[in-house]
Amino acid sequence: MALVFKKITPAIGAVVDGINFAGELSSINKEALIQGLYDYEILFFRNQEITPHQQVKFAANFGELHVHPIYPVLPELPEIMLIDTHKDFLPDNDNWHTDVTFSPTPPLGAILAAKQLPSVGGDTLWASNTAAYNALSEPLKRSLEGLTATHNVTHSFPPLRWGADPASKDRFDAAVKKYPPVSHPVVRTHPVTGKKAIFVSEGFTTHIDGISKKESDALLSFLFAHSTRPEFTLRWSWHVNDIGFWDNRVTQHYAVADYLPERRIMHRATIVGDKPF
Ligand code: SIN
Repeated sequence: MALVFKKITPAIGAVVDGINFAGELSSINKEALIQGLYDYEILFFRNQEITPHQQVKFAANFGELHVHPIYPVLPELPEIMLIDTHKDFLPDNDNWHTDVTFSPTPPLGAILAAKQLPSVGGDTLWASNTAAYNALSEPLKRSLEGLTATHNVTHSFPPLRWGADPASKDRFDAAVKKYPPVSHPVVRTHPVTGKKAIFVSEGFTTHIDGISKKESDALLSFLFAHSTRPEFTLRWSWHVNDIGFWDNRVTQHYAVADYLPERRIMHRATIVGDKPF
């Protein structure tokens, strides 16, 4: 059966029917999903009851898997990042971010599975950085050409939390050493589609390189606000066993932290990407 893609908003997202994450992925469906990611940037799948091993196996169809250097992972399967948030382990992804841009080669994409949800709340928003780029005026697009910005791991993983907790200190120290601040283009080009996308986010971007702090602060605050305008976003209200699969090169996301003291558990498998240009 051919996959069916149902668009969510004009800018971003589709719900996909006709696939079973627990089964083998045919090459036809794999190609359809890759094309779907290019077209819609995030895909959602309902009623996918999968084990962590099945999630890893499915994600590995799309590339090598990334192991997060700081955030908790499943001890027996480190390719699964464990986002288990509650009153004693507070959410920290309630800011707009593109995953792991502190790396010289940020992930290509990620597959997120909802395992346990609060009675209400805990939604996630995604924004299309291509739609945001397309909506800029031509003179501003020209001004952004050639600019780079610095991304820093400690911006989203502050030493006061991750470096102070004995449970994460060693991995945090190693990650800070392994990932010094890195520059990426402010506008990146998708390596396959050639689409251009704004590539800064409040989660990891500290400043635009080579301009004054005042200019950088003003330009970044404009770009952060512009790229998350409601017109370029969707908001997903999760059900247990929903899965989201996004193209991390051209999107950013925000996990709403409105459910404490209730608990929310998500499993993320992240696919290695390449150097932005
Ligand atoms: C993430 O920030 O990668 C996960 C988003 C979520 O927990 O909804």
